[in-house]
Amino acid sequence: MKVGIDLLHFATADYYLGLDTFAAEKNLDVDKFYIGIGQERMSIAPPDEDVVTLAAKAAAPILEQINSNEITAVLFATETGVDQSKSAGVFLHGLLNLSKRCRVVEFKHACYAGAAALQMATCMIRANPKEKILVIAADIAKYDVNTSAEATQGCGAVAMLITESPRIIEIEPGSGYFTDDVMDFWRPNHRTTALVDGKYSTKVYLKSLKHAWEHFTQQTGKGFDDIDYFCYHIPFTKMADKAHQALIRKAGANVTPEAFKAQTLPSQRYNRIVGNSYSASLFVSFISLLDHLEENIENKRVSFFSYGSGCVAEFFTGMMQPGYQALLMTARHQTQIAQRTALTYAQYLAFYQQAEQPKENIVYESNNRGAYRLEGIESHKRIYQSTLHE
Ligand code: HMG
Repeated sequence: MKVGIDLLHFATADYYLGLDTFAAEKNLDVDKFYIGIGQERMSIAPPDEDVVTLAAKAAAPILEQINSNEITAVLFATETGVDQSKSAGVFLHGLLNLSKRCRVVEFKHACYAGAAALQMATCMIRANPKEKILVIAADIAKYDVNTSAEATQGCGAVAMLITESPRIIEIEPGSGYFTDDVMDFWRPNHRTTALVDGKYSTKVYLKSLKHAWEHFTQQTGKGFDDIDYFCYHIPFTKMADKAHQALIRKAGANVTPEAFKAQTLPSQRYNRIVGNSYSASLFVSFISLLDHLEENIENKRVSFFSYGSGCVAEFFTGMMQPGYQALLMTARHQTQIAQRTALTYAQYLAFYQQAEQPKENIVYESNNRGAYRLEGIESHKRIYQSTLHE
């Protein structure tokens, strides 16, 4: 039985901060960002946008194409949860008017949770092929102002419909994985921003890739040359370049500079202008690959490397399905990205600081232009608005 992604769509916030604006504010050479870390812009969520509204924006175009009552489960991956107890997925379930005959749960392990939710969904479908599962990966990456991590923020959500006989990509059984209890990046419950040992985190990322790859080759018998396109978790695009170089060395592969670019560049283009979206970032990379390739890649193999600090990593693959191109939502992705508004550094800081206000009772100014927004919080209860499902 083939199981995998039948439809997928991604959403990001309506605003961005250009790293040229950022560099000018900090009196730094912009090439430190454009070349040094390979980033140009980062999407910035206004206070009335959270992972639930981002997820709703990501999922709505999928729901337009199916009978949403058929969704049997929502697996919501995030490390930007909105409640310690109630899952973000249940807020989403309400906002999207999904069937009550549905199970909903939140998945967490840093940026790894999206891959975990996807793998869990494929197992549930193998056990019961009637299931149609909505997997969401949504995050808002936020670090302290005036730290070197500040330039690697961003946000986004990817919604994926997981079914049997999928029309976009079959997720192949067999993967390689690796876990190690390390403190490279973490966010204690009392903080809204992550703490990170930046340089160390990049070393652990590469070490995890090598271990997950070794395990993947042992588990599946597949090698480097069996894979046509490579998608990585992308905190910043230079990290994906370093990862691909490390993988080539580890696998003993021979790759020309042209082939290196072809294997990696299309899958980095959205990430370069959206920034880190944590659990969503690997799947933004996959969507970027599909939206930017000129050639048809039916029956080609794509690999996925998921890395979540702390750390858990997994390497797995999928086979592109015939006819997948007709299902891509490229124009919607590109319009949404192009319509974002540029922020000045002061406007970015104002959004940043508003989001830190006390949250027992608050009414948010309307900045989020999407169909779903966080209207406010009343007696500690989040109030969402939808202009689509009223
Ligand atoms: P930094 O202090 O900006 O580092 O921190 P830097 O000063 O060494 O500069 C970075 C690169 O720019 C260097 O290149 C410089 O040479 C180059 P490299 O040595 O790396 O090849 N550079 C320039 N290049 C051209 N022209 C110039 C110029 N100046 C410098 N003028 C760091 C960078 C990424 C560490 C920081 O931004 C950070 O801490 N970010 C957050 C952590 C992070 O993203 N880690 C990635 C791995 S962990 C991960 O992916 C998980 C995560 O997504 C969380 C989760 O799992 O939930 C983060």
